[in-house]
Amino acid sequence: MNYKQTRMWDVDNWDGKEPSPPEIEEAGLCISRGEAVAFPTETVYGLGADARSDAAVEQIFAAKGRPGDNPLIVHIGERSQWQHLTSSVPDMAEQLADAFWPGPLTLIVPKNNAVSEKVTAGLSTVAVRMPEHPVARALINKAGVPVAAPSANRSGRPSPTKAEHVTYDLDGKIAGIVKGGGAGYGLESTVVDCTGEKAVVLRPGGITREQLTRVLGEENVAESAGLPQEEAPKAPGMKYRHYAPSSPLVLVEGSMHEAVKEAQREGKTVGIMAVDEHHADLQKYADVFIALGSKDELSDIAARLYDNLRLADQSRVDVIFCETFPKKGIGEAVMNRLEKAASAS
Ligand code: TXA
Ligand code: MG
Repeated sequence: MNYKQTRMWDVDNWDGKEPSPPEIEEAGLCISRGEAVAFPTETVYGLGADARSDAAVEQIFAAKGRPGDNPLIVHIGERSQWQHLTSSVPDMAEQLADAFWPGPLTLIVPKNNAVSEKVTAGLSTVAVRMPEHPVARALINKAGVPVAAPSANRSGRPSPTKAEHVTYDLDGKIAGIVKGGGAGYGLESTVVDCTGEKAVVLRPGGITREQLTRVLGEENVAESAGLPQEEAPKAPGMKYRHYAPSSPLVLVEGSMHEAVKEAQREGKTVGIMAVDEHHADLQKYADVFIALGSKDELSDIAARLYDNLRLADQSRVDVIFCETFPKKGIGEAVMNRLEKAASAS
């Protein structure tokens, strides 16, 4: 669908307390009427539509240019809503919801017939998340329906962490955008498959593996998805091209100086993405330097990563070199997204 104008509802100044502003009610009405609306969550901006309606969900796929075999996450405003989406809720899913909802955790559970087949791409399971962001919760409650919402970017681009990112990618393609503060985590939710004997992390994110094992016990969390290549991936989205900047992104484990010198010998222009502490030392070597944040504040680096990948995208250098991080805590999600960006470029 093409819109002459994508509406912008600015609720940046709302303090999150009841009552919610009329802008959220209007945006909620749009969703209940079957339109697609972008909104902030504590992870990234989502593009939401009525999860029970094929026609509404199709608008999400069309606006994003998303392949139809990549299922969506259903967002709920209250815990009790998930009984309307699932045929049964495994114990471990209840335990994880107790510990981390509302929050950046998506649980894969068996689905029932209320969910549009388009949402689940024909799978027998559904991904459910109860977000924490007050704007997201108020919007879902005003819409009065379960809200299917992938990240609100064009397929293959970094997820949006600011309303401007959504405008850049989807202006004219969606009914509206609720602008409401930055996304605190900056990386998408952790996706956990709860349909097997052990919990399986399909996508690392805001809730860390360490946090999951603290709740379920080490023995109940599988090491990794560990699927043989020939089998269909469990999180179908993970097979697609992701977060790819237009210049190749190369992760540098060893000496950044050496990597840069070699590229420059080949006559290439070079961008460097590195922590603030390395700015003074490395800046003089680069055509473009992108400061990722302090090395001691990995969660800040995560929060700004997609914005920085979008900056890198606009830099138009021949190659971008990026530092790596330890895969511990939120570092696992940071490295997962950087590795995807590097392998897609
Ligand atoms: O933080 C987030 O999760 C954001 C915000 C908006 O909530 N949403 C998000 O959605 O990142 P999306 O569509 O970009 O990523 C959803 C991931 C995809 O990799 C998809 O394949 C996987 O979840 N997924 C969805 N339903 C699934 C299912 N039934 N089984 C396995 N994986 C599923
Ligand atoms: Mg996405």
